[in-house]
Amino acid sequence: MKVAVLGAAGGIGQALSLLLKTQLPAGTDLALYDIAPVTPGVAKDLSHIPTAVPIEGYGKDDLHKALEGADIVMIPAGVPRKPGMDRADLFNVNAGVVKHLAEQIADVCPTACVGIITNPVNTTVAIAAEVFKAKGCYNKNKLFGVTTLDVIRAETFIAEAKGLNPADVNINVIGGHSGVTILPLLSQLGLDFSDDEIAAMTHRIQNAGTEVVEAKAGGGSATLSMGQAAARFCLSLIKALNGEEGVVECTYVDGGSEHASLFAQPVKLGKNGVEEVLPYGDISAYEKEALDGMLETLTGDIAKGVEFVNG
Ligand code: APR
Repeated sequence: MKVAVLGAAGGIGQALSLLLKTQLPAGTDLALYDIAPVTPGVAKDLSHIPTAVPIEGYGKDDLHKALEGADIVMIPAGVPRKPGMDRADLFNVNAGVVKHLAEQIADVCPTACVGIITNPVNTTVAIAAEVFKAKGCYNKNKLFGVTTLDVIRAETFIAEAKGLNPADVNINVIGGHSGVTILPLLSQLGLDFSDDEIAAMTHRIQNAGTEVVEAKAGGGSATLSMGQAAARFCLSLIKALNGEEGVVECTYVDGGSEHASLFAQPVKLGKNGVEEVLPYGDISAYEKEALDGMLETLTGDIAKGVEFVNG
């Protein structure tokens, strides 16, 4: 198996690469690619960690070498929001980066599983899907928007509020990966939440990214927690590709949802990526209203990605 990380020199990319270097199964190759000149140095640095995970760093002209033979490609490449940049500026840069990288993946490793982290994920996954369709290599079972950060935040905040071990909190987070499109299904936990607590907890999970942006005071957005979330997703995926059964993660996929063409929900992973899209189960009236309320935003985000590629 080989995992390639594109955007590996960034805040998320370095955290993710460190976790993969220390946690991937022995013998898995790890390829780091980034346009930043420091990339071979990041790989050299990580190569001194004594694990049986061979690591190689590739500079900006060597994307194809990084992708050759990859089974999983994780993409945190792009720009986080900087002062003076509006959402449209961010969108245009990141949409272009994901489009370019998806085209190269289609040319070099068209059967790889691809996990997209670059924001806005609701839209960048649609961009990759359209590129793969145009290139004739689209496999809906192998393209994922990594929404695991919403899941780990929910686990953490719920455990804090209820005095639980976060490892014991298992929650479905459905929908998309920004603001109101993030819907944690708190009603399924069987915990004693008042209506006010449900509303406040939902709001906190939906806006947790802003907590980090504000606390970093101009120094960026979530990188370390996102790296951990992306590593969890990638390690689950590699377990499933290696034949482990019963691996389930909530992730944003083209899974035939009645709600939107791309939708985050629990998915059973297998040797070929998505093995089965699982029902997300019963939801409360509050959650039903939130789900109905998000759909215009979510389908609009997806349409924006389709339009970016197809004009
Ligand atoms: N190919 C490869 N790497 C690229 C490209 C490209 N075309 N364009 C930018 N990069 C690299 C940058 O060189 C940088 O090392 O992507 C990395 C991004 O890292 P940071 O600027 O530290 O950003 P980070 O906080 O990691 O966020 C990256 O993930 O969550 C999203 O919104 C976030 O879209 C942003 C992305």
